[in-house]
Amino acid sequence: MKVRFEVNAREVEVSVEPRLTLADCLRHHLRLTGTHVGCEHGDCGACTVLVDGKAVRSCLMLAVQAEGSKVVTVEGLSKDEGLTPLQASFRKHHALQCGFCTPGMITTAHALLTAEPDCDADRVREVLSGNLCRCTGYVSIVEAVLDARAAYKGGAS
Ligand code: FES
Ligand code: FES
Repeated sequence: MKVRFEVNAREVEVSVEPRLTLADCLRHHLRLTGTHVGCEHGDCGACTVLVDGKAVRSCLMLAVQAEGSKVVTVEGLSKDEGLTPLQASFRKHHALQCGFCTPGMITTAHALLTAEPDCDADRVREVLSGNLCRCTGYVSIVEAVLDARAAYKGGAS
């Protein structure tokens, strides 16, 4: 089947098997390997991307369901080669170690901060509770997200 959608502000048309997940379409057809695949069951959050502004587990969505949607992966968050304020905050706070969970953490946190730039630590923990990290212990991740809030106030970033 052919599916057309927008990914990182670029129109794409891909021929896919109807059963292909959006995660595998992004990684294998479009070479956007920043989206990681861990559990493939919706449990770990590593595959999270933005679909029409909402954080979505791309392992639980079929590529054909993206028809007509605007998909943003971790590669599409920055408009240039530089880090976004949220990414820079992760670096500043040492909020990643192996980095496997990081794309999902960043996309999930970006959706949260875009919708709720005044969120508190409890809200950050609640929203990120579906994103598993085996390295950091989460404290630095929560600190990084809280520190990035200022960049989202007034609709920035
Ligand atoms: S790979 Fe999608 S939630 Fe784990
Ligand atoms: S930094 Fe390794 S799993 Fe999160």
